[in-house]
Amino acid sequence: MKFKNWILVVCSMLASVVLVACQSGTDSSQSAVDAIKQKGKLVVATSPDYAPFEFQALVDGKNQVVGADIDMAQAIADELGVKLEISSMSFDNVLTSLQTGKADLAIAGISATDERKEVFDFSIPYYENKMSFLVRKADLDKYKDLSSLASANIAAQKGTVPETMVKEQLPNAQLTSLTNMGEAVNELQAGKVDAVHMDEPVALSYAGKNSDLVVASVNLTMKDGEANAVAIKKNQSDLKAVVDKVIQKLKDDGTYQTYLEKAAKLTEVEQ
Ligand code: ARG
Repeated sequence: MKFKNWILVVCSMLASVVLVACQSGTDSSQSAVDAIKQKGKLVVATSPDYAPFEFQALVDGKNQVVGADIDMAQAIADELGVKLEISSMSFDNVLTSLQTGKADLAIAGISATDERKEVFDFSIPYYENKMSFLVRKADLDKYKDLSSLASANIAAQKGTVPETMVKEQLPNAQLTSLTNMGEAVNELQAGKVDAVHMDEPVALSYAGKNSDLVVASVNLTMKDGEANAVAIKKNQSDLKAVVDKVIQKLKDDGTYQTYLEKAAKLTEVEQ
């Protein structure tokens, strides 16, 4: 090979080394955890209208965002060695805040659906449940089967799985989509809607707090594998590994269960 050609070969080899080095420097899958550590805080997006998962309660004289999901978020922040910052918003903005980079994680009793999995990564599931209808106590006997709900006026939270389930499985019902869960429950108490569809533990929590409300005995069919999980921006495998590790431990040693029990007690001072 001529000397000129050798130079060419060496130059192109050098160029590819530089290219690879640059690529790994911008590879987000390597840097999510580092970026959080550098910031010194983990920003978690949530919608605090969903006791026992996340809600507002008066603690030490202050209105704070509490709940089992928030304790879990704190455990993740502790594992990362950073402070936890809770960013409250309506549920229909929670997932988008990951895309815009406003939050590092979304933890809001989020069901890991196939549709959402196309856009976001999810941790291993941390809670499995079904969806339920909250109704007025006086109507308990009225709503015993799906046909009784077929043409009812049903409220659900905007952008949620319970909302989609009503659309798909009760196409003739009148659906009232509201951004805030508390508002939907108020509408129920005021007689403006007949039922509110939501995650069962949340329905039980609202029924526990309001003697005029109960959970109906009829349920829509839930798709398999839609348990609650933490949503993470795609391609942040290092962050997902930390989240999964924390969740596995909280599940294995029963800590998540104790978080739920603590949250149930806090609903007494729910705001
Ligand atoms: N599990 C349902 C979903 O993922 C509802 C979640 C609503 N969460 C809330 N914090 N309001 O669509």
